[in-house]
Amino acid sequence: MVLPSPYSPGATPGYLAGRGRELEEIRSRLARMSALGRSGGPLLAFYGSRGLGKTSLLRQAQGEAREGGYLTVWVTGRDDADMMPELARSLSAEIQRESFGERAKGLLQHLERVELELGVPGAKIGVEVAGPDRARSTGAIESALEEAGRFARGHDRGGLAVFVDEFQEAKISDRRSLLIALQHFDGAPEGCPVAVIGAGLPSLIGAVPEAATFGERTKFAEVGLLTDVAVAEALRLPAHDLDVTWSDQAIEEAMSAAQGYPHRVQLIGEATWEAARPAAGGQIEVGNVRQGMESADQQMTTLFRSRMSKTTEPQRRFLTAMASLGDGPIARAEIAARLETSTTSISRVRQELIDRGLIEPATRGELRFTIPGFGAYIRNDAPL
Ligand SMILES: Nc1ncnc2c1ncn2[C@@H]1O[C@H](COP(=O)(O)OP(=O)(O)OP(=O)(O)O)[C@@H](O)[C@H]1O
Ligand SMILES: [Mg+2]
Repeated sequence: MVLPSPYSPGATPGYLAGRGRELEEIRSRLARMSALGRSGGPLLAFYGSRGLGKTSLLRQAQGEAREGGYLTVWVTGRDDADMMPELARSLSAEIQRESFGERAKGLLQHLERVELELGVPGAKIGVEVAGPDRARSTGAIESALEEAGRFARGHDRGGLAVFVDEFQEAKISDRRSLLIALQHFDGAPEGCPVAVIGAGLPSLIGAVPEAATFGERTKFAEVGLLTDVAVAEALRLPAHDLDVTWSDQAIEEAMSAAQGYPHRVQLIGEATWEAARPAAGGQIEVGNVRQGMESADQQMTTLFRSRMSKTTEPQRRFLTAMASLGDGPIARAEIAARLETSTTSISRVRQELIDRGLIEPATRGELRFTIPGFGAYIRNDAPL
């Protein structure tokens, strides 16, 4: 019988490799709630470039939190819609899922009211609500979270864990509301069992203090490339569950091709699996990795192409100049020289590209590409 591939390019991985430290940090925030009845502390925010596994990390943490007896809620930051209606909907769904029955009636009614008041479909999309309305929305986020957190504690749960993906995308007013609410929860003398964990692109680091000065208490944690050991686990363990092994040589080959980039690990895993079509008890060999590589490469090219198509002309010129200088960390002055301009005049484009997660600062003001292989793609394949 042919076994289905256990790899998941583009979706949450079956096995989240190499994120033990990050998960531990989240667990300790949650433990503050269940052990002490207090908030999970200031915002904990994970940042990293596209495809490094931020959403996967948060999803894994949400799954663990549920299993650990917490109520959880998930929202995705958007700049074209208010957060509160989604938050209320998502909270209601979570509470209904947990079947509290009659006991949850009051809370559900509250959430429904908020959703109706603030979430008239289409009514406020794209419009920043000002004045009293805005204050009302801030209060609504805070009171909904507080009520749900207390409800959780009162009904045998550890507290409420709120996951906010793409935090940097959320409207500034929503980011501010969340930060204000958290500050109140953190300072509440009787404690308020709500924890907020965010994730997003590196521009998150600016998006937090932009929304509220006390956002500086936020703990920022970088989600980086996977180590070789983590890559090997990410490939081996899902196969092992289906009684399939990878030869050491096959793992070596895949590891050097993946270069620690999680999305590529999944692509290579899947493409290799399709090439090997192993049965239970079978082994994946280095030849299968090589056979699969062409298809994995094609898919990486598609990804690079879509990243490039979303850049502006000056950004593209910057990237092209940078790629022409090689794959190692590159000095800003060299890029400026290649573009026949000054380092100050490229600083804005440079920041835009960092915020979009395409390049990142290395040591001493040098820059490098965040996704392995992106430089080579621009040199060889990118239409100019
Ligand atoms: N720790 C991990 N181990 C194995 N595979 C992973 C890991 N983290 C992420 N992946 C895989 O990498 C890919 C990208 O993951 P994910 O969507 O979570 O990244 P992201 O950082 O949220 O990206 P984006 O910024 O585009 O939202 C997915 O295919 C996922 O299965
Ligand atoms: Mg994501």
